[in-house]
Amino acid sequence: MIHERNNDQRSIHLILSSRFRGIYRHFSENIWLSLSICYKNAASRSSVRLLFLTVCLFIGMFVSTRLLDFTLSPWRETGITEESIERAKGLADFRLVILNGTAYVEHYKKSVQSRDVFTIWGLLQLLRRYPGKVSDLDLMFECFDFPLVGKKYYDQLNSTVVPPPLFRYCGDDDSLDIVFPDWSFWGWAEINIKPWDLLLKDLSNGNKRIEWIDREPYAYWKGNPWVAEHRKDLLTCNVSNTQDWNARLYIQDWDRESQQGFMQSNLADQCTHRYKIYIEGSAWSVSEKYILACDSVTLMVTPRYYDFFTRGLMPGRHYWPVRMDDKCRSIKFASEWGDNHEQQAKAMGKAASSFIQEDLKMDNVYDYMFHLLTGYSKLMKYKPTVPQNAVELCSEAMACGSEGFAKQFMEESTVNGPTDVSPCIMQPPYDPRTLNSILDTKVKSIKQVEKWEKDYFEQINQE
Ligand SMILES: *[C@@H]1O[C@H](CO)[C@@H](O)[C@H](O)[C@H]1NC(C)=O
Ligand SMILES: *[C@@H]1O[C@H](CO)[C@@H](O)[C@H](O)[C@H]1NC(C)=O
Ligand SMILES: *[C@@H]1O[C@H](CO)[C@@H](O)[C@H](O)[C@H]1NC(C)=O
Repeated sequence: MIHERNNDQRSIHLILSSRFRGIYRHFSENIWLSLSICYKNAASRSSVRLLFLTVCLFIGMFVSTRLLDFTLSPWRETGITEESIERAKGLADFRLVILNGTAYVEHYKKSVQSRDVFTIWGLLQLLRRYPGKVSDLDLMFECFDFPLVGKKYYDQLNSTVVPPPLFRYCGDDDSLDIVFPDWSFWGWAEINIKPWDLLLKDLSNGNKRIEWIDREPYAYWKGNPWVAEHRKDLLTCNVSNTQDWNARLYIQDWDRESQQGFMQSNLADQCTHRYKIYIEGSAWSVSEKYILACDSVTLMVTPRYYDFFTRGLMPGRHYWPVRMDDKCRSIKFASEWGDNHEQQAKAMGKAASSFIQEDLKMDNVYDYMFHLLTGYSKLMKYKPTVPQNAVELCSEAMACGSEGFAKQFMEESTVNGPTDVSPCIMQPPYDPRTLNSILDTKVKSIKQVEKWEKDYFEQINQE
């Protein structure tokens, strides 16, 4: 029986498998830390709008909870010391200092592509958006994929060594790296992915072209399989003469696309299937937000990493969980379920694209950055100074010194001046019981889908 709504299964007795215990521990050990939510003042809005905001509140809570309290908790007792920053230097691509509203950068090594350039650009735009509001700080940033600051080295109750604070784009349960929005929010010049606020509009329009029900009833994925074993493994699920798991999988060849002017890689043209598979690359994948934006049901192959917003997603509401260790059957089952539960599948696609369009709009990305940096700055134990080899940054000079897509994207993502809106307000924490129940629901939803899947194939095998 697979017709019940999976997120209503509150009565299932849950025995945490080791796989879930990992996730659970990760959340629950931070429960007593003060948790906070972020929301915009909505006094003048209609009640319909308020109702909608209540939903956002819930999701937004999840995002910012982990952001401030989890991300910065390793430094809560000790603060961020100059000595710990110096240790992070050995890992970083660049150091960024903000003093009295001016940013300075010292480069240590070249990042992959223009990741560093667009990250620094994004920070500059934050300063333009909220002039005089971003506190003085000193931070180290590394732009590669994997988290580097191993939790176990600093986890001992007795450890007196302050972990090196290192900013990057993703984290996992074993690391302490500080998670920051990735460069692509301001553009990804090498593969012609435009700044996020423009892309959001394209995606929203692209979505309208084909109704969910009229889309191809298959699970679509297009990407680079050579970056991870589990991606190569996914390709074995592709349709062939002898099997059909309802998966339609394609290899993205960026070199060829680049030569042909990116004709085949327009993201807004890729909302053509009822199901879209998300699978991590060598670490988290930037593609996640584009996949979730499609109104299709996102089939999420069990992720290991998280970026700054993904912990706000709920299985069964925003996506359908797919097993890492049994991908083909899991994909087959997911698409059968969706085809047989049209309304629920459509609602799931819609919930994900609304999350992306509303919760993940640039205003919120900037507010995340603002609150993260403010929290970070409060933990600093010393007054930052301009590093010896640092240069002062200025948006105009950065944009003028660029060319091609990079220059275009910088122009398009320039914050023209201060906003008239203040950063969103931090709300008092959720109590541990409420948070626990949210986490519980998350784990139970995944367990429920796995059980349905198991029952389904058992039944088929009996027939
Ligand atoms: C900070 O900037 C303001 C405005 O530009 C200026 O008036 C002030 O003197 C600066 N303070 C320091 C310590 O540089
Ligand atoms: C903590 O470290 C100190 C100094 O290294 C040591 O004397 C003490 O026994 C340790 N305490 C625990 C609980 O491990
Ligand atoms: C998957 O199958 C489709 C349909 O036969 C084919 O067009 C596509 O190239 C295949 N993908 C891969 C990665 O082989």
